[in-house]
Amino acid sequence: MLYNEEGTYHMTLNDVNANVPLDTAPPHGGILINRMLRGELRQAVQERGQKLFKLELNAMNLSDLELIAVGAMSPLTGFMGEADYNRVVGEMRLSNGLVWSIPVSLAVSMETAEAIASGQEIALCEKGNVLAVMEVAEKYTYDKAREAQLVYGTTEEVHPGVARLYRQGDVLLGGEIWVVELPAAANIEFPELRHTPAQARRMFARRGWRRVVGFQTRNPIHRAHEYIQKAALEIVDGLFLHPLVGETKADDIPADVRIASYQAILRDYYPADSVLLGVFPAAMRYAGPREAIFHAIIRKNYGCTHFIVGRDHAGVGKYYGTYDAQRIFNNFKKEEIGIEILPFDYTFYCKKCGMVVSAKTCPHDQENWVFLSGSQVRQMLERGEMLPEEFTRPEVSKVLIDGMRARKQQPPEDEG
Ligand code: ADX
Repeated sequence: MLYNEEGTYHMTLNDVNANVPLDTAPPHGGILINRMLRGELRQAVQERGQKLFKLELNAMNLSDLELIAVGAMSPLTGFMGEADYNRVVGEMRLSNGLVWSIPVSLAVSMETAEAIASGQEIALCEKGNVLAVMEVAEKYTYDKAREAQLVYGTTEEVHPGVARLYRQGDVLLGGEIWVVELPAAANIEFPELRHTPAQARRMFARRGWRRVVGFQTRNPIHRAHEYIQKAALEIVDGLFLHPLVGETKADDIPADVRIASYQAILRDYYPADSVLLGVFPAAMRYAGPREAIFHAIIRKNYGCTHFIVGRDHAGVGKYYGTYDAQRIFNNFKKEEIGIEILPFDYTFYCKKCGMVVSAKTCPHDQENWVFLSGSQVRQMLERGEMLPEEFTRPEVSKVLIDGMRARKQQPPEDEG
């Protein structure tokens, strides 16, 4: 509950996205959350935020804030309290029983936690700029090794998700947030593609799509992606291409290059009336199977009815089995997930078939199959070589080579 200076009124939030078509998938928990304040209320909270304790957010917190604000994380209305956190880590459910597989928490150092009282309002900031007010309902300690083991399947710090977890503070703050401004990235990075769940739902409705398949990716598009996207599109009305543009590990291809790879081929190879490109402002966790559930439920909130899970979804290194991210859904009833999972086997180009195939659909020997490892791809691009056409369309190779060159020419990042 928020009070103004004089404490004479409390602010109630219109925390539901009104007039949003819900005729595709109902949001998780039934209500599409909206934590963005508008008008006078927004102004009052913005001014109030200036006087509060200011907490600087990191890149993942900023992404989470944006996703909560626009309802992509429905039913979450803020950062998780202890009961939700513990049950999510232990059982992949919120305290009310709804399926939720990844903790959405706000970590601070012990010293910062000591400076904040339970029940206190604080301002959540980006470079000093107030983005939201949070009522800190709870402060609690947590077991990082438990979270690492249960969520990421390992406590090894070379795992990028575990490394981030071990770097963060030792106390978690839980409470609802009221957002007055989205992080700067929302206005700078692909603003025209940053459709909110409410906007995406309206766009689907306008196009007459009732069955929509969502596609998560953190890589440039290649032939196998295109094949599974189009195979999925065969059985639904629309394809929502939804590359993740939040924080990724340093050796992943940067988001602008990845988005450019899509833009390079969308017009010529994808039908405009059944494909929509949007960006997904989440940070990558690399939690494999757990993250596949998280990705699916969030895409349901964007209005998707179907979701693609291929090989080693959201995986990294050798931490997860090729199809673990598909199997994990067997632990839940279909209606608990509420979005249809379309599982795809490992696909690749077969020279004899002359098309993308999987071991399930191709009778030929492996020598006919075109495989390139991530490091082979990187080395070729660094040498300015086009990737084989069977692996990636030439238009995409060009974008990747240019992207690599541009990166080399950039001065090293200022560490200070
Ligand atoms: S992810 O981390 O976002 O999952 P990526 O962009 O590589 O990484 O994959 C996007 C989606 O395509 C995931 O569902 C993944 O499982 C699937 N996928 C990627 N490559 C293949 C492939 N060769 N065969 C089958 N599925 C694939």
